[in-house]
Amino acid sequence: MPEEKDPTQEVTTALNAFAQEFQRFDVSGRGDLSLKTAEAELEALRDLRTKHLGKKSAIAASKKLIGRVPADERAAFGQLVQQTESSITQSISDAEAALKSIIEKARTARESIDVTIPGRRPRQGHLHPITLMRQRIEEIFVSLGYAVEDDREIETDFYNFDALNIPEGHPARDPQDTFYTTEGFALRSQTSTVQIHAMQRRGAPVRMIAPGRVFRRDTPDPTHNPMFFQVEGLCVDRGITMAHLKGTLAEFVHRLFGPETRTRFRPSYFPFTEPSAEVDYSCFNCGGDGCRICKSSGWIELGGSGMVHPNVLRAANVDPEDFTGFAFGLGIDRTCARIYQLDDIRLLFENDVRFLEQFR
Ligand code: DAH
Repeated sequence: MPEEKDPTQEVTTALNAFAQEFQRFDVSGRGDLSLKTAEAELEALRDLRTKHLGKKSAIAASKKLIGRVPADERAAFGQLVQQTESSITQSISDAEAALKSIIEKARTARESIDVTIPGRRPRQGHLHPITLMRQRIEEIFVSLGYAVEDDREIETDFYNFDALNIPEGHPARDPQDTFYTTEGFALRSQTSTVQIHAMQRRGAPVRMIAPGRVFRRDTPDPTHNPMFFQVEGLCVDRGITMAHLKGTLAEFVHRLFGPETRTRFRPSYFPFTEPSAEVDYSCFNCGGDGCRICKSSGWIELGGSGMVHPNVLRAANVDPEDFTGFAFGLGIDRTCARIYQLDDIRLLFENDVRFLEQFR
């Protein structure tokens, strides 16, 4: 038969066990506890309460014994159990209150702000140089009565080539090899595609520019990038001639680089224009004398242009007997690189903040 335990002894043992474990929670004079430590201590104190006052605690077990001790000892024993329980409860509550007050103070301190500390200014962003350039170009053409078209970057062969008078097998397709997506679709290699969309949407007459991204399967080097920016221009109406083209682009460079800027048209070939011309403008830096920026020639290339080919008008359901028009295509990033004298066009696409920050 197991030895009968002495209930009174049990209670004393329970109290001693509690006292031992409780020692570390005596925080009087320990107001320097960190917020984190105080929070952890409060958590541990909750566990201590469960252990010593909970359903499975020694005190709970002793309470059940009260009815079983001999009648003459019962009152004294009951009192002992009760006193022990309330003494443990009191100790825990005191410690809890102390910890809570420490936590409260630490939180308030953490959340208080020193209004005398200089503020941290949020870093302000700014527009990318290509965007700035694009906006300048847009402003000029809008003031000349042109609409700005924003069109798709994924195209069919029809819009990128056929409708622009570049049938399958035409050598002009080669230098414009691009990236193919799903069957029958590819990233556009030129913004000339928007000429067709714009005429289909608006009919004639139409005046529009279309700035946007184009893609080509080029190996990146200082003057090439597989993705770059062009702006297309199209003006179709009754009686439009080459003189309108020359006058419009002359006005454009006057407004972009200054009224002293001259233009030069060199005969060229593009499948979608006839006749076609390459456009140059006199160097904005040396005025035509020759310098590093224009590579001593006095001229800088602006882009391609010409009178819209009748086949292109037809492909977009515009009657070439009734309407004529001119078109042009300029490189936005190329112009940007010239103006800012960048040795490497790829700088515009790497998004290195140290570089971009210079164009605020
Ligand atoms: N699409 C041509 C290219 O990417 C540029 C161009 C040339 C556009 C002549 C035109 C144009 O509208 O008339 O090289």
